Amino acid sequence: MSTTLIQFSYLVAAVLFILGLRNLSSPKTASLGNFMAAVGMLVAIVATLLYQEVVDYPIVIAGIAVGGVLGAVVALRIQMTAMPQMVALLNGFGGVASALVAGAEVTTAVEAGVEPTGIVPVAMVASVLIGSVTLTGSLVAFAKLQELMRGAPIQYPGQQFVNALIALGAIGLCVVLATAPLDLSLFGVLTIVALLLGVLLVIPIGGADMPVVIALLNSYSGLAACATGFVLDNSALVISGSLVGASGLILTKIMCDAMNRSLANVLFGAFGAVSESAVSAGTSEEQGNVTAYTPMDAAVIFSSARSVIVVPGYGMAVAQAQHAVRELTDTLAEHGIEVNFAIHPVAGRMPGHMNVLLAEADVPYEQLIEMDAINPQFPETDVALVLGANDVVNPAALEDEGSPIYGMPVLEVGKAKHVFVIKRSMNPGFAGIQNPLFFKDNTMMIFGDAKKVVIALNEAVRNY
Ligand code: TAP
Repeated sequence: MSTTLIQFSYLVAAVLFILGLRNLSSPKTASLGNFMAAVGMLVAIVATLLYQEVVDYPIVIAGIAVGGVLGAVVALRIQMTAMPQMVALLNGFGGVASALVAGAEVTTAVEAGVEPTGIVPVAMVASVLIGSVTLTGSLVAFAKLQELMRGAPIQYPGQQFVNALIALGAIGLCVVLATAPLDLSLFGVLTIVALLLGVLLVIPIGGADMPVVIALLNSYSGLAACATGFVLDNSALVISGSLVGASGLILTKIMCDAMNRSLANVLFGAFGAVSESAVSAGTSEEQGNVTAYTPMDAAVIFSSARSVIVVPGYGMAVAQAQHAVRELTDTLAEHGIEVNFAIHPVAGRMPGHMNVLLAEADVPYEQLIEMDAINPQFPETDVALVLGANDVVNPAALEDEGSPIYGMPVLEVGKAKHVFVIKRSMNPGFAGIQNPLFFKDNTMMIFGDAKKVVIALNEAVRNY
């Protein structure tokens, strides 16, 4: 295949990636976006395989077969709640693949005794540094989320100083190698320092902040791929790496904004440790009387409502209650009740968590309303049904300046006429703090597993 045709194929692939990303930004077009990006990847892979520099097809095909089968098996078996750790692993593998390719190019240059010139040496060190940090950082993120290691921040005195020192050492090595890249052993040292840095940077971050870290590491894996693209002079890799790098950063910012926290606070604030001290300081203590209802009691109020807003959270994901809630909303609609869903940007444990689950249960996209659009609707709403959500409906974020989540935008469910909260206990959510909403006069708790309670509620409303 001629070089011009290959470059043209890369251009087509890049356009498909961009259109894919564009379409992924809306639930309606997300499947199409995913398909377009996948076709773009196929075009890029086929064009690369037709490159004359490919010397050993059996090995390439064996790699594709093994990787493809492993990927398919893992993707089919993975639980939705375990998706963040799977993404973490994939990021790590992406990072190390880029670092290995750059490393192979270094070895080839050393063997040929030809010093790379221009941007290439800089790209080589960038790829090895970022790719290695991404690998071990992602493995720690995976281990924390999979509960293979303690999720709480691991801290020791002088930690940030030690990390800064190692990071400076890594940058120093990069500067030396960028000017004299034919030193394999120094590349080895850089790789070891970068692998260590990945571990050290992620262990002080609490397990619950891992989704933000994973989005950031996703961005890093894109940057490593982009750097490798410069090493190989491969425009498809440069473009796709930049897209991953930029979209990962944008996602990181969206998540930080939605929690009203800076990236520095997520990376260096040891949030889990803060909330543990908040718990011991008494912020998790109960703040009044709680009204407990049964699904039968609740059915009376639901049956006389005209409008209901369902507010899903992490508990819906844990209980896998999305299909049951869809059935409940169908019943409510049959009774002429208007139903919408309020979607908080960081409800659950990963970006778009609620959208994905509700889409799986065929809840119409039009019913999923973003926080800013739905908040003004709560005062006119008869019933807000909080389904396994906690922090994202905590009024302390608006009212209590001492609260660890003060300033985080939340869904103002307390303004609805009646609030039902389905959860198993009075235990706090991710932030580890009590929720004053549960003690309000218009709030009724229905204790139990979200799926079981919603099924019972549906039954009770049907028979009412
Ligand atoms: P949380 O505040 O974590 O609360 C979830 C609640 O679900 C818990 O209080 C728990 O109470 C309940 N629950 C768990 N399993 C349940 C089950 N089987 N049935 C019924 N209820 C169950 O969740 P949220 O309101 O969705 O907030 C998300 C939190 O995660 C925020 O603080 C956010 O900042 C943080 N976070 C999110 C992201 C992303 S990208 N989404 C990223 C980083 C951090 P019980 O134990 O009493 O049942």
